[in-house]
Amino acid sequence: MGRRQDLERRQTLLARFGRRISSETRLDSLLTLLAEEVRHILGADRCSVFLVDTARGELWTKVALGVGEKVLRVPLGQGISGFVAKTGSAVNVRDAYRDIRFSEDVDKLTGYRTKSILAVPLKDRDGKAIGVFEVINKIKGFFNEEDEGFLRLLATIAAASVENAMLYDTLRRSHLETIYRLAMVAEYRDQTDTAKHLRHISKYSAIVAAQIGMPYQTVEDLRYASPLHDIGKVAIPDAILLKPGKLTPEEYEEMKKHPLYGARMLENAETPLLQLACRISLAHHEHFDGTGYPSGLKGDQIPLEARIVSVVDVFDALTTKRVYKGAWSLEETFQYMANQAGRLFDPMVIDCFNKCLPQVKEILAEEQDTKTEEQK
Ligand code: C2E
Ligand code: SIN
Ligand code: SIN
Ligand code: FE
Repeated sequence: MGRRQDLERRQTLLARFGRRISSETRLDSLLTLLAEEVRHILGADRCSVFLVDTARGELWTKVALGVGEKVLRVPLGQGISGFVAKTGSAVNVRDAYRDIRFSEDVDKLTGYRTKSILAVPLKDRDGKAIGVFEVINKIKGFFNEEDEGFLRLLATIAAASVENAMLYDTLRRSHLETIYRLAMVAEYRDQTDTAKHLRHISKYSAIVAAQIGMPYQTVEDLRYASPLHDIGKVAIPDAILLKPGKLTPEEYEEMKKHPLYGARMLENAETPLLQLACRISLAHHEHFDGTGYPSGLKGDQIPLEARIVSVVDVFDALTTKRVYKGAWSLEETFQYMANQAGRLFDPMVIDCFNKCLPQVKEILAEEQDTKTEEQK
């Protein structure tokens, strides 16, 4: 390709680059998109985007492996990426293995062989390094000064998007944290491990919703809204909520008001997320056959999100110990739930939940792992 054509090609790609990355607010997808675009534009075989984690004094990047991906962390100052982040200067090497700054960690993990590397810093508005762009193994020849200038330009454009996405990320996380803490208030009295119960409700609901084929945003909303389903329990007296034995019919009548209490606390919410939480609170004890409470709704009169939470709530209630009951085994629980398809539960949701069994087991096994780790 001639120089002029090459320049024109790059200009076209540059325009596309700006367009594509500016519409991506999710950090995860943005990083993937950046790596793909930059690799393509620079004619490199690979591209890694490293981000600075100030709190830990590290750089991290996602490394694609045969199956899935892994987060790799390097101390600031270590490796070529660490050098670039620390000094703010670019590095261009033809043979990485002959450069003492190079760290072989990534190669060791992926089995890939790095030869040439061009690395430039990603800087924020104040000129502070927030990350590093690395293009690896130029397909034809070596990276030259023109490549370097171009990569710097891409880094400047990308930095603003990365900063934005990080901001969104923090916002989303603080939003989620607030919701979780709110949910904790309602449940910490009657659960031995509130955080775990809420995590389960959140994860299981999202897994089932995804299995059903709900759109990404709905799945995420459900992930965040579902832990609030029992928020109304804050209004239930200790004498009822914490009773070690069976409730009297009067006590149970009082208990059955918690969906309404919750809905009242969340009603007229402004955000779609809390509106969803309101619908879930109100309807998570409705039964598919119309025998539930508080309204006796039937079938698809019950919002789908509530039908999902109903299934995962009972599942988690049965498989964990409560003040009033012991824990059931997974087998017993699945059998009971299958039996209740069409009665308590939407058969379609039960069907999808059954398909999620491997993921549910994985979540439970992971917890077992962390427990053993902690005991060591
Ligand atoms: P929870 O403990 O979160 O239980 C949620 C739902 O899981 C229950 O809704 C029920 O559908 C199912 N579930 C829980 N434990 C059992 C069980 O041992 N057997 C069967 N078949 N299903 C079970 P439900 O019944 O509408 O209860 C709502 C809430 O009322 C419960 O939330 C719990 O906080 C309270 N509750 C229910 N029964 C009792 C009880 O006997 N004693 C006390 N102290 N609280 C109870
Ligand atoms: C892309 O179009 O962004 C990547 C295509 C490639 O270079 O393989
Ligand atoms: C490093 O920054 O030294 C590691 C380079 C790589 O991404 O392979
Ligand atoms: Fe409930």
